[in-house]
Amino acid sequence: MEVVIRPDADAAAELTARIIADRVRAKPDLVLGLATGRTMEPVYDRLAAMDLNFSACRTFNLDEYVGVPPQDPQSYRRYMNERLFERINIRLANTHVPNGVAADLGAEVASYERRIKEAGGIDLQLLGIGEDGHIGFNEPLSALMSRTREKALTPKTRQQNAGMFGDDPKRVPTRALTMGVGTILEARELLLIATGGPKAEILAKAVEGPITAMISASALQLHPRCKVIVDQAAASSLTQREYYDWIFANEPEWQAYR
Ligand code: F6R
Repeated sequence: MEVVIRPDADAAAELTARIIADRVRAKPDLVLGLATGRTMEPVYDRLAAMDLNFSACRTFNLDEYVGVPPQDPQSYRRYMNERLFERINIRLANTHVPNGVAADLGAEVASYERRIKEAGGIDLQLLGIGEDGHIGFNEPLSALMSRTREKALTPKTRQQNAGMFGDDPKRVPTRALTMGVGTILEARELLLIATGGPKAEILAKAVEGPITAMISASALQLHPRCKVIVDQAAASSLTQREYYDWIFANEPEWQAYR
């Protein structure tokens, strides 16, 4: 795992977008794993503003609420269409978001796993972190080998996501379909972005604490190619900041991004 600390949220989003852009340029038929949420909005704004060719890319989103139809303004499908897909030259048929209103949710999650495999696996998976340590909607105690499945959301997650539901956590759906921790770990490269003070404590536990199913993001420590991009506020509880800064300032792989 490598941790890069940027001065502010804008700089963290900028670096994240530049890494994604470089992967798309290097492999035009990249299979890109995507996430939703507030942290991703400035990342998608930047990607949309870059002159990138997504025409051969395929994408797989991490998750979707159960019971929210794709055309609903609160769905993650709609979020993705509006914030990214309609602003770039990707073919909508090449974009995948789990269908939270499928008649058979078990068949939907099995088919989602199959579609990822048929695409050759995910090259780069973008991730955010929830205040309870989730990645995707892998809430505390999600098995570290879990696959795409239906999952009940914690009260903390429903509180965190209430913004899209008139600030009323009770209106946030209770269940979601999500890639599993095991599914996420199979991506060839992982890129987690976390910004803002409310993420500081859980981020430090995930990055520097022991691996535990109580904090799904701690499983990222197992992945051989995982980058964590944070702003100063989200980095404030990390103990090894000097070392992370030294790596970013000195290692050749970061030269182009300094
Ligand atoms: C959303 C997802 C979640 C979010 C996380 C952070 O697709 O996978 O894990 O990345 O809840 O959300 P924000 O960015 O809104 O703080």
